[in-house]
Amino acid sequence: MKPVTLEEGWTPLVRSRRLSEELGLPKLFIKNEGQNPTGSFKDRGMTVSVTRAVQSGAKVLICASTGNTSASLAAYAARAGVKAAVVVPSGKVAAGKLSQAVAYGANILRTDGNFDRALNLTIEIVSELPSLYLMNSVNPYRIEGQKTVAFEIYQQLGFVCPDYVVLPVGNAGNISAVWKGFKELKEWGMMSRLPVLVGVQASGASPIVDAYERGSQEISPVDEPKTVASAIRIGNPVSWRKAANALRESNGVALAVSDEEIIQAREDLASDEGIFVEPASATPIAALRRLGGKVERGSTVVCIATGHGLKDQDSVHWNAEESPVIGDKSSLKSELGRLSIN
Ligand code: F0G
Repeated sequence: MKPVTLEEGWTPLVRSRRLSEELGLPKLFIKNEGQNPTGSFKDRGMTVSVTRAVQSGAKVLICASTGNTSASLAAYAARAGVKAAVVVPSGKVAAGKLSQAVAYGANILRTDGNFDRALNLTIEIVSELPSLYLMNSVNPYRIEGQKTVAFEIYQQLGFVCPDYVVLPVGNAGNISAVWKGFKELKEWGMMSRLPVLVGVQASGASPIVDAYERGSQEISPVDEPKTVASAIRIGNPVSWRKAANALRESNGVALAVSDEEIIQAREDLASDEGIFVEPASATPIAALRRLGGKVERGSTVVCIATGHGLKDQDSVHWNAEESPVIGDKSSLKSELGRLSIN
């Protein structure tokens, strides 16, 4: 069977121009996963998992989601000609992501409460109704697809292992996938070392970071996770053990950043680098600011920008009243005069 694909992957690895100077990291790169077909890294996993599901005869694919997984599943299910049901926490998903799922023709099911509850309900129902095929990142095929970002980073750096890979952590599938990809490159003899992983959570939804800071082997779930970064508003990450393992094995760091730091980083990535991301995807830049000089200047650092900014436009504050209304050419000219145009 031919794979179900929308030509995902091969996203740009963009070298930072300005934030690199501020952070004192001349070799800072942004892996722009927002350039995937549905605007997030989820597409890398969805091509594999939908292909395998269809191969096994599945007719209804289901996931719980904070938004991006639902958009991606909806698109690949449409491509494959099978049904998608997406379970989302009511009122907690960015409008751009929901409109994608609607446009691709998914069945939208809203639950009360948060994402963790939506995922629990979904996992329970899948165990009762065998005709449903679960597409969350506990599905191992998702991880197999998502690990390809590691292969690309290695190749785009000129077949070199980065020193640090910095990425947001929500349900913790992606950090496990990235780590699996790098470990395989090493096992295959393509690299002799491994990167240090930096896993970033939002401070209102940081059970993995909390456990890391306590030095604990267990997480304490956060009952009511809160953050502007709705993609990673997750209190009980299903793959937390894999994340903890990846952090330990890579000698990694887990840290939490505040909503203010996230929004500042999102603004700066857009206005300093020309890369517009959703709030969750800006957490790596906020984390590097926190780490300050702890990352050695000569290091090759890759931040994974997981999702596109157009998905979550509510996080951009713009007051139309503050921008001038142009009545005629002379008012246009006088306004442009402020920009020192002759
Ligand atoms: N960044 C974005 C933009 C995401 O949408 C997600 C997860 C993550 C980071 C974290 O990845 O969960 O593998 O640790 N979004 C999921 C969803 C939960 O439903 O779209 P993770």
